[in-house]
Amino acid sequence: MQYIPPNNLRGHDLASLLAARGLPADWLQVNDFDPHSPQNVARYTYSEVAALVPFHYRSAVPTLPELRQWIDGLVVAAQDAQAERHSPIASVTHGPSLLLLGVTGVGKTYEAYGAMRELAVTGVRAQWRVTTAADLYAALRPRHGIDSEAEFRSYRDAPLLLVDDLGAEGKPSAFTEEVNFRLINYRYERQLPTLFTSNAAAGQLRERLGDRVTSRLREMCQRIAIKGTDRRRAA
Ligand SMILES: Nc1ncnc2c1ncn2[C@@H]1O[C@H](COP(=O)(O)OP(=O)(O)O)[C@@H](O)[C@H]1O
Ligand SMILES: [Mg+2]
Repeated sequence: MQYIPPNNLRGHDLASLLAARGLPADWLQVNDFDPHSPQNVARYTYSEVAALVPFHYRSAVPTLPELRQWIDGLVVAAQDAQAERHSPIASVTHGPSLLLLGVTGVGKTYEAYGAMRELAVTGVRAQWRVTTAADLYAALRPRHGIDSEAEFRSYRDAPLLLVDDLGAEGKPSAFTEEVNFRLINYRYERQLPTLFTSNAAAGQLRERLGDRVTSRLREMCQRIAIKGTDRRRAA
């Protein structure tokens, strides 16, 4: 793992994330030149995550206790696996998935990016791929010069995956249902941690995603219903 000098993270809004983890504000500033130190793993992981988080969500912090518990569980599992395998660093490889449900504007995407940012400063390696469901389908549409299977595998195999706005397009087409099924079934069987968000009500999931997808999601995900109204309207 590459050594990331502490001043590379200057300007990122990290104080509240570190405080939430009970870490000192200068925790990431240690200049020990050890690429495997938890601080360097955090700096490296955070630098990658910062490139994935859209500008609007650059200061997001998770507020739901369930998300914090999810992060804690992933960190502990990564550290246990590290001890067992005598690995130089702890990496997230397996864990439960989450489904964040709520109406448009309630804060699903905010919580998801907040969780990504908070997990990144824990000192555990977390490699993410992020997409909206709509962008995923667009990226996988068979077209000239694109190996859509290779593209699919890059999402399927990601150690951690965010699929934002699943089921937003109403009824699935044969194509979107197939993509959802193959992606979710693969990650379900291998317990690859995935964060899904959807603005569907719990009772609408089946109609928006189909039976096969809904039943797998039900088993693999803890569901978190975010209560509230559209924050964008309030603003
Ligand atoms: N806990 C929060 N604190 C501050 N702003 C928030 C919070 N949750 C959401 N927001 C803001 O509210 C708006 C809607 O949140 P967003 O996550 O985009 O909604 P959704 O993904 O559920 O449609 C965004 O501008 C977001 O930055
Ligand atoms: Mg959203």
